[in-house]
Amino acid sequence: MNRSHDHDMAVSLTQHDRSRRAFVATLRSHVLQRMAGDLRQHFEGTVGPEHEKLGAPLESPEAIHEALKPELPFKAYSSVRTSAQEMVFDVVSDAVDRELETLNERAAQPAKKGSLTLNPALPLPKSVTGIDVHLSPGAYHEERADNDVSAGAVYDNSIDVFAFGQFGKRHNDIGATLSNYLRLKFPEFVPTSILDCGCTIGHNTLPWAETYPDAEVTAIDVAAPVLRYAHARAESMGVPVDFRQMNATAMDFEDEQFDVVFSSMFMHELPLKHIQQYLKEAFRVLKPGGVLWQMELPPMNAMPLYENFYMNWDTYYNNEPYYGTFRKQDYRRLLTDAGFAADDFIEATMPRYTFIGEAAFAESIHSDNTFDTLTGRMDPKGTRWYGFGAWKR
Ligand SMILES: C[S@@+](CC[C@H](N)C(=O)[O-])C[C@H]1O[C@@H](n2cnc3c(N)ncnc32)[C@H](O)[C@@H]1O
Repeated sequence: MNRSHDHDMAVSLTQHDRSRRAFVATLRSHVLQRMAGDLRQHFEGTVGPEHEKLGAPLESPEAIHEALKPELPFKAYSSVRTSAQEMVFDVVSDAVDRELETLNERAAQPAKKGSLTLNPALPLPKSVTGIDVHLSPGAYHEERADNDVSAGAVYDNSIDVFAFGQFGKRHNDIGATLSNYLRLKFPEFVPTSILDCGCTIGHNTLPWAETYPDAEVTAIDVAAPVLRYAHARAESMGVPVDFRQMNATAMDFEDEQFDVVFSSMFMHELPLKHIQQYLKEAFRVLKPGGVLWQMELPPMNAMPLYENFYMNWDTYYNNEPYYGTFRKQDYRRLLTDAGFAADDFIEATMPRYTFIGEAAFAESIHSDNTFDTLTGRMDPKGTRWYGFGAWKR
């Protein structure tokens, strides 16, 4: 029997588990590449030109969405993609359910390197509890037993299927890419305290401890089950991280405590008001000379029209209601409203560090930023992650 991962929170996989996972991963890859390509072709070759001929060109993502809705390639794409998304969680849950008791016990072992501080009195935001975020049943927070880690275990296993290898071997490519970008682009900046906000299972937190081994790394999330899992996973990998249950919109930290505030795929799951509160908090807890540096979906104002329609699909069909509103924002403006100076804004699109290695990555970060159809998309042809943030004076 295979193990799902190379750490102690891995689950054993039967042949049946493996073939179901392989099927869904292949289906996801098929829909995101082949069916997405067919859909684009249908738009560019038929629906777009037809509207132009009628003198009513499709000039916004919303107009493209409305025009494609009745079309068969769109219906097929959307229904297969939605079903594949639901299947991701379905096919990984069997193995997690079988071993849940053991996983929960394992996670309760005393810490050796890092720490876990939970706050059972913390009110959970409705944006987490009110919906099954990205169609994941129970999302991040649902507790099924004492000391439950099931949401974390499902999340870790679901990435294997959902990302079909595109997040790197330990699902850590985003953290590795953003931390190594800072290290290589700003070699004189050596942070000693790093905070990851909305860390989930810490897969993109751990690379920060590897990139900056002398730094203290702290990671926060509102959801206890994913934090328990994150802590146990990090302990078994021997990486010291302090995980704390905390709301990023109202942090318990002192002012000016961190050199780096990082987040990854976090803000697009927050209502705009919470994004604004979080960014003010990030500014407050950063030391002068520190940096806010976050991986996110690229903003609508930097991407071509069709990509904006395509990326915003999740807002309508994947239980990601805040996605579209977030992408519409002027990101620099979001940061200046939170206290950062406009001139201190930084952004980059980056190739994947763990895929191309140090030398090619170092070379790439000195070339121009490119926003293209691979930016922010999972694609074996070579995803580029988008990062933005600002230095604090
Ligand atoms: C999409 S996941 C982030 C994934 C992860 N950072 C990564 O790199 O893949 C969003 C996470 O943010 C957490 N979260 C949502 N609202 C939060 C808030 N206000 N404060 C802290 N964590 C929050 C959720 O519980 C969830 O674990």
